[in-house]
Amino acid sequence: MKTIYITGFMGSGKTTVGQAISQHLNLPVFDTDTYIEKKMNKSVKEIFRDQGESFFRLEESSALKELPLENAIVTTGGGIIKSKENRQWMKQHGLIVFLYADITEVMKRLEGDITRPLILDKSIEEVEALFQSRLPFYKDAHYTVNTNGKKIEEIVTEIERMI
Ligand code: S3P
Repeated sequence: MKTIYITGFMGSGKTTVGQAISQHLNLPVFDTDTYIEKKMNKSVKEIFRDQGESFFRLEESSALKELPLENAIVTTGGGIIKSKENRQWMKQHGLIVFLYADITEVMKRLEGDITRPLILDKSIEEVEALFQSRLPFYKDAHYTVNTNGKKIEEIVTEIERMI
């Protein structure tokens, strides 16, 4: 089975859903952020601070290539779809499942979060603009799941039916 790439904006529930699917399907789960953090021995926030976003994006593309292409779940950082190369890679090698959540829902989940450099000190309008600018890329997935108001089990069942 091809690798399932879980995409979506920050706070869309990728990690939680990815772990649940991994258990259901008995497949290993990998997270691109965690992969990079282990490799660099630093948090994403520290990498953004010390090496900058472009360096992080290069590491993100490398992570995609280094992670398994079969029989795995890969949860991705929210910005992975910014790169055309990454989008093509995931589309060609795996199944992309986009977790959609309304921006109001996302903002609720991200409230008080200090680990994500791209939303630190940003207004709701700025975060929404980022979300809107990325939406066309997220939507270019094999499957889209609307997660608004759904429990994790419902989302997992929906994904399992789709794939
Ligand atoms: C980012 C999302 C984060 C992380 C980094 C950049 C983004 O991952 O990769 O802070 O550009 O949307 P999550 O989507 O898991 O929060």
